[in-house]
Amino acid sequence: MTLKDKLTDLQEKATGLKAQEIIKLGFDAFGDRLSFASSLGEEDQVITDMIAKVAPELEVFTLDTGRLFQETYQLIAKTQKKYPITFKIYYPDTKAVEEMVEEKGIDLFYESIENRKLCCGIRKVQPLRRALSKVDAWMTGLRREQSVTRTELKTFEWDEGNQKIKINPLADWSLEDVHQYIKENDVDVSPLHDKGFVSIGCASCTRAVKEGEDIRAGRWWWESPEKKECGLHNNPNRPISK
Ligand code: ADX
Ligand code: SF4
Repeated sequence: MTLKDKLTDLQEKATGLKAQEIIKLGFDAFGDRLSFASSLGEEDQVITDMIAKVAPELEVFTLDTGRLFQETYQLIAKTQKKYPITFKIYYPDTKAVEEMVEEKGIDLFYESIENRKLCCGIRKVQPLRRALSKVDAWMTGLRREQSVTRTELKTFEWDEGNQKIKINPLADWSLEDVHQYIKENDVDVSPLHDKGFVSIGCASCTRAVKEGEDIRAGRWWWESPEKKECGLHNNPNRPISK
C-alpha cells in the first residue's frame, strides 16, 4: 500500500474519533515510523500528555533553534522528567548557523522576510527534515482556528513538502477545549501564557498579545498575517482563505 492509499484509509477510519483515539490510530498504523513534533506550546503539551497515556512508545521531538525562551527550556526539562516517554531534541547545523550570523548579523530576521525565512530554514526546517527522515508520518499540535493559513487543515492530511502523512489530532479543537483539557488533566504549560503569550516560538520573534488581538499576532509581528508560516507547515495544496 502506498502512503497516499494509507492516508485515504486512515481518513475513513478517523471519522468521529476523539483526539486520543486519533493518536492511537496513528501509532497502530505507523509504530516507530511516526513521531510527534512538540514546540512545548499548550496544544503540544496536551498531545504529549495523551501520548503518555495511550501510546508512550511514540517519540516526541522538539527543534531547539537556539533562540527559545528560558521558560521553554525549563518546560522541556519538566516534561522530560514527568513522562516516561522518549523526548528527543534536534539542533541546527553549527556551520550553517555560524555562516548565516557572520554574513547577515545575529538578529537578521528583523531586516527582511527573506532573512527571516533563511533563519527559520536553518534553525527549524533543516533540523525538521532530519527528524522526519526516519518516519512516514508526523504529528503536530496545529489547529484550524489558529490562523488564516490553517483554515483548511485536516486531521489526517498529505504533507506535500515533506512527502509524509501529517496527523493533527487537535485540528478541530478550540482554544477553550485546549484549556479545559489542561485544567482537567493537570498538564504543565509555559508560565508565559499567563503573561499574554498565546502562540510561542523563538524569544526574538514572539511578543505578548493584547486582549482581542489575533492569537498569532505576537509571532513575527512585523510581518503580514498570510506570510506568517516559517516553513514547517507550508502546504502548497492548502488554499489560504482570507
Ligand atoms: S510555527 O510554524 O508558527 O512555528 P506553531 O508555533 O504555530 O508553528 O506550532 C504549530 C505546530 O508546529 C506545533 O504544534 C508543533 O507540532 C510544530 N512546531 C512548531 N515549532 C516547533 C519546534 N520548535 N519543535 C517542534 N515542533 C514544532
Ligand atoms: Fe530565526 Fe525567528 Fe525563525 Fe526563530 S522564529 S528560527 S529566531 S527567524
